[in-house]
Amino acid sequence: MNIKDAMKARVSRRAFLGEPVDADVAERLMELMLEINREEGLNFRFIENGGAAFEGLSRSYGMFSGVRSVMVLAGRPDDPERKEKVGYFGERLVLEATAYGLGTCWVAGTFDRHSPALGVPEGDELECVIPVGKARGEASLRERIIHRMTQGRELLPEDIVDSDGELPQRVREGLEAVLSAPSAKNGRPVRFTWRQGRLSAAIPDTYHMQWVDLGIAKFHFELAAGGRFERGNGGVWDPEGTGGAGA
Ligand SMILES: Cc1cc2nc3c(=O)[nH]c(=O)nc-3n(C[C@H](O)[C@H](O)[C@H](O)COP(=O)(O)O)c2cc1C
Repeated sequence: MNIKDAMKARVSRRAFLGEPVDADVAERLMELMLEINREEGLNFRFIENGGAAFEGLSRSYGMFSGVRSVMVLAGRPDDPERKEKVGYFGERLVLEATAYGLGTCWVAGTFDRHSPALGVPEGDELECVIPVGKARGEASLRERIIHRMTQGRELLPEDIVDSDGELPQRVREGLEAVLSAPSAKNGRPVRFTWRQGRLSAAIPDTYHMQWVDLGIAKFHFELAAGGRFERGNGGVWDPEGTGGAGA
């Protein structure tokens, strides 16, 4: 499976087997994280045994079982683009892991963010973690219940774009890919505007995790449609842009 196929195959998994990720796959994910850190000024780390962050007293941590390895997504507090970059590059890792047949789930809330097991350096801003590992073959009853609770109405590309004319096929494919993207609380907040042949992507910004959702949505769009989005809320898509997710 390549990472494009992984967009369609991915669903959040919350029941893991507690086994280590195979060494070559863990190494590949770590290499990718080092590259992202170097190029983007982020601090992503692969924690081989971070399950303790999901074993606190809070009942909400109980939504997860068998968590072992965790991708920790942090950055510098003074980086204004941190959240959007965490979304964009974190989703790349999620799709790589999915392509290797691993289960993942973005997590912003239901874990112990102060757990020493995560090894977040003093002064870093921890945004999200992503448990990654071999998931149970079949979704557990609890997973299925959570899935049903979080899935809203099916959306169509037309539901997330305000357009003044017919959309090119390429743009439609990008929007379809956005519909399969994960989002915090399944809020799916990113909306697109198509005006005189120009596409932009924006969030209402009522909830700070929407910035992470914006980065994730742009990554999915570029992977399907190519080109590259400008960073920021209302960022414009350059169909000829290079170096995007689809590169
Ligand atoms: C930024 C972000 C934060 C999330 N935080 C949590 C969380 O704290 N706990 C959780 O169980 N799921 C969390 N999720 C997973 C979403 O609930 C899930 O992506 C959404 O319901 C869509 O389901 P799907 O990923 O299976 O398509 C988060 C997702 C994103 C993108």
